[in-house]
Amino acid sequence: MNNNNLLEIKNLTIQYKTDNGLVHAVNDLSLSLEKGESLGLVGETGAGKTTTALGIMNLVPDPPGIIVGGEIQFEGRDLLKLNKQDMRKVRGEKISMVFQDPMTSLNPVMTVGKQIAESISIHESLSRKEAERRAVDVLEMVGIPGERFNEYPHQFSGGMRQRVVIAIALACRPDLLIADEPTTALDVTIQAQVLDLISNLKNEQQTSLILITHDLGVVAEICEKVAIMYAGRLVEYGTLGDIYNHTRHPYSIGLFSSIPSVDGDEKRLTPIPGLMPDPINLPEGCSFWPRCNRATEECKKAVPALTESEPGHWVRCFHAGLEGSSYKNDASNKNETSKQDDTSKKNDASRKGPQTHAEYADTESACKFLGSLVSE
Ligand SMILES: Nc1ncnc2c1ncn2[C@@H]1O[C@H](COP(=O)(O)OP(=O)(O)OP(=O)(O)O)[C@@H](O)[C@H]1O
Ligand code: SF4
Ligand SMILES: [Mg+2]
Repeated sequence: MNNNNLLEIKNLTIQYKTDNGLVHAVNDLSLSLEKGESLGLVGETGAGKTTTALGIMNLVPDPPGIIVGGEIQFEGRDLLKLNKQDMRKVRGEKISMVFQDPMTSLNPVMTVGKQIAESISIHESLSRKEAERRAVDVLEMVGIPGERFNEYPHQFSGGMRQRVVIAIALACRPDLLIADEPTTALDVTIQAQVLDLISNLKNEQQTSLILITHDLGVVAEICEKVAIMYAGRLVEYGTLGDIYNHTRHPYSIGLFSSIPSVDGDEKRLTPIPGLMPDPINLPEGCSFWPRCNRATEECKKAVPALTESEPGHWVRCFHAGLEGSSYKNDASNKNETSKQDDTSKKNDASRKGPQTHAEYADTESACKFLGSLVSE
């Protein structure tokens, strides 16, 4: 294991045994995350994102879930080999998860302050008073006045409840936070606040982050690395610059083509045709071939290996070649793959207009684009 890696997943395979057959939810997935790094895990519904996260938390429901194989190395230990007691210590203390449906993650008959204090005292040997004091601090850290400690979840707005869920996840200062679609249930302005909160906390506390989302704009705001999943497999993986400016995999290219850009010429978006295959009956060969405009006979026969196209940029496609980079825009030629470039560009207030896919994808750009269509 690379010494800088906090998390290293190797060949993780997870299935669900159902009456209709075996669901191939996660297939031979490998990826790593360094300390303090943030990874966006992107893919359409059913791609296996939540199952991957549940695998890391060792919370795949069994039955029907089966971890068929693989390793999840975290701080030098394989989480899949830990006993229940050791794993319970890892959860909360070392790794926390904000679940996909945060509104149901809170106990409606317990005050939010008590819920945070309880999660602190499960993992740290503090007196009740000390745990409550820490809970007030954590509430304030996520922007909720400490005086609201004794209020119940129904007295909070959706955005505030989401902040409370994040507060609980961060209460024990985990090394890794997994946030599964943390803003899906929120309106756009609250989404932006919650994302800012996660981003600030990540920077302040040096927490590593896995952010699961459908939204490439959100990834561009927060993440340094991106992993694109399709039908349980990783299809492209690299730095933000690799994925947004040197997009290689036809599925990733399809994802970018189906989101609006502000100064692109296109008036219509190009959705990816068809649907993701049934994970019980994955097609032979590359799972994407029924939807892929580059598919050849070879693609229908064998699963392509994940191959390193440039250092650190991995692609699973027989025909990724260089054609993928034809998708990059002129500006991205100036902006090579380094994530520092991405960061410095984001911070350069004097820059005019979006220049990379990352920027095209942000919500504000999308709104302007849609506005321009309406006004035509
Ligand atoms: N408990 C379960 N029993 C049977 N199948 C399941 C179960 N949980 C998930 N699946 C199936 O596993 C596959 C992957 O599901 P998963 O929830 O990991 O996808 P996801 O990428 O998180 O999707 P979404 O974006 O909709 O949240 C899907 O086909 C799903 O139907
Ligand atoms: S391997 Fe073939 S079908 Fe799969 S993404 Fe590449 S070109 Fe398309
Ligand atoms: Mg999910």
